[in-house]
Amino acid sequence: FPPEKIRNFGIIAHVDHGKSTLADRLLEFTGTIKESLENKQVLDKLQVERERGITVKAQSASIVYKCDGKEYLLNLIDTPGHVDFSYEVSRSLSACQGVILVDATQGVQAQTLANYLLSMEHGLPVIPVINKIDMPRANIAKVEKEMLNLLDVHTSEIIHISAKLGQNIDQVLEAIVKQLPSPNLDCKSSYNSSSLLKALLFDSTYEKFRGVIANVAILDGTMKKGDIISSVYLQQKDGNSKSAYEVKEVGILRPEHVSTDVLYAGQVGYIVCGMKTVADAQIGDTLYHHKHPVQGLPKFKKARPVVFGEMFPLDQSQFKNLDAALNRLMLNDRSVTKLNSKSFLLGSGFRIGFLGLLHMDVFCQRLEQEFGTNVVMTSPTVPYKAILNPNKRLQIKEEKEITITTPEDYPSQNLVKDFLQPMIIGTVITPLQYSQDIMELCTAKNGTAVGNSYISETSLMLQYRLPLDEIVVDFYDKLKSLSSGYASFDYEDDGYESVNLSKVDILLNGEIVQELSKICTLEKSRKIGAKTCAKLKDLIPRQPFPVSIQAVIGKSVIARQTLPAAKKDVLAKTGGGDYTRKLKLLRREADLQKHLRAIGKIKVPKNLFIKMIFKL
Ligand code: GTP
Repeated sequence: FPPEKIRNFGIIAHVDHGKSTLADRLLEFTGTIKESLENKQVLDKLQVERERGITVKAQSASIVYKCDGKEYLLNLIDTPGHVDFSYEVSRSLSACQGVILVDATQGVQAQTLANYLLSMEHGLPVIPVINKIDMPRANIAKVEKEMLNLLDVHTSEIIHISAKLGQNIDQVLEAIVKQLPSPNLDCKSSYNSSSLLKALLFDSTYEKFRGVIANVAILDGTMKKGDIISSVYLQQKDGNSKSAYEVKEVGILRPEHVSTDVLYAGQVGYIVCGMKTVADAQIGDTLYHHKHPVQGLPKFKKARPVVFGEMFPLDQSQFKNLDAALNRLMLNDRSVTKLNSKSFLLGSGFRIGFLGLLHMDVFCQRLEQEFGTNVVMTSPTVPYKAILNPNKRLQIKEEKEITITTPEDYPSQNLVKDFLQPMIIGTVITPLQYSQDIMELCTAKNGTAVGNSYISETSLMLQYRLPLDEIVVDFYDKLKSLSSGYASFDYEDDGYESVNLSKVDILLNGEIVQELSKICTLEKSRKIGAKTCAKLKDLIPRQPFPVSIQAVIGKSVIARQTLPAAKKDVLAKTGGGDYTRKLKLLRREADLQKHLRAIGKIKVPKNLFIKMIFKL
């Protein structure tokens, strides 16, 4: 296919508006896959996607479509809808020249807007589509009005479809061919051009035997089996000599790998070239023929994690395996960051950064399902910052900013000039009747309104500036329950703001238990301290002496509980002489002791910490 016969497009939409279903119909309509009732979200290949019914990874597929008697090669990229995965969307759009924006019965939602703006940022033309017109609730006139109000589209451009029933799918395909541009090749070369190879590496996965499989968009030249290639990143890293790979396989995705021996300019496909490590297959990297270096493409924006958790293997002997599994999964999910960390109790582990809570959940599930690892994960925290004053003794010459993601990072209070917390601008789109409750929720979460506007007679767009910490845990669930699932939410970073931060320590009979320390705002510290003390009182078995449980900030006690003493005689209840029963009780007691750990003189169950700090 010459470039003018190629269209690379993405499908973007809010969660559940039917992107993957539309992709199924496009694949069926063009005969790429057989028509079948079994075809449900065929591009959602991961187990986690099938179980949760959501798209997590953008997937590609090549379609051949005949329009006005001419054949076209359409490369489709299905993208996730949830806000946590917008990095995936952004990354995929860089390999597209246009998008189909799907909207459904709910009308324009927060991620419709966010993804629309993302396409604008990439300068991509948009084909507006209203899906689910078969549903009795469908209110096409209302949805159209919202689209006209919020997006730069005209009524005449909007296509009405039912992805489920396959209605008007031909109109979508025709619009792709007629309205979207062909790939914007660097020098408008034709497909058999002899110009230099330039390919964008936009995604990668790892397979046990084939190694790294990279998805590429060929921007210029051709890539053939047997070619020796290198990349701008590797060249910078290793110097010219070491960084060459032989292309062992090239092909297109239909959606399964179909080997083609050659990829031409304008095509999207995959290559296998024996790259072994995550570090080698850099997303956004530019590939070229080893002997003919080219100028690199602009670098991708790095994803910035907003939620951190500590991850430990359940069994320390599995640490190396976990490390390897993480590296391989991170090849497929570049938004995750990883640093080594150590816990006095749980041994070696990692501090991992995610783009949100759903992202953290999905990542852990993939780790378990795709790599068979067993891990525990601490409850999530957000990255705070501290500005430290200059200090001669500690050789801090001028003001210095540090990031705090765990209690160990918390600096000595007297060094600190100011603490800062991450802020976001949250956008909620909601039917009018829930707006009052949602405004109250945002205010309760320390939000300040920055702008509210009607997007139709019946729905409102609310914008609030909120501390990130307030939304990472339960904001989304609360929003959904207050609005019976109708409100949608999206957010973007909005810098940092001064905050009163504190570190709450827990003392058992005066001895600090480091694992239980927590970073939180001063405002929340009393509540967190009281809750931790009460929970500990429940979990610690009575000791032969009373145990004082205290939550402290520095030297001041903010909450306390006392566990009364128990005088324990395991044999007391057995009464007289039943020897075997006595033996059994003594054995059980010995067993119990094995599962206890001492903090000073206090014996606590070994799993106490897991219960206190980890979400299992
Ligand atoms: P995410 O990737 O999680 O954002 O979802 P998605 O946008 O890919 O949506 P998906 O295709 O998974 O569809 C969500 C639900 O809507 C599924 O239950 C589909 O069967 C249903 N659905 C999709 N299109 C239509 C349609 O045209 N009509 C009806 N009635 N239901 C549809």
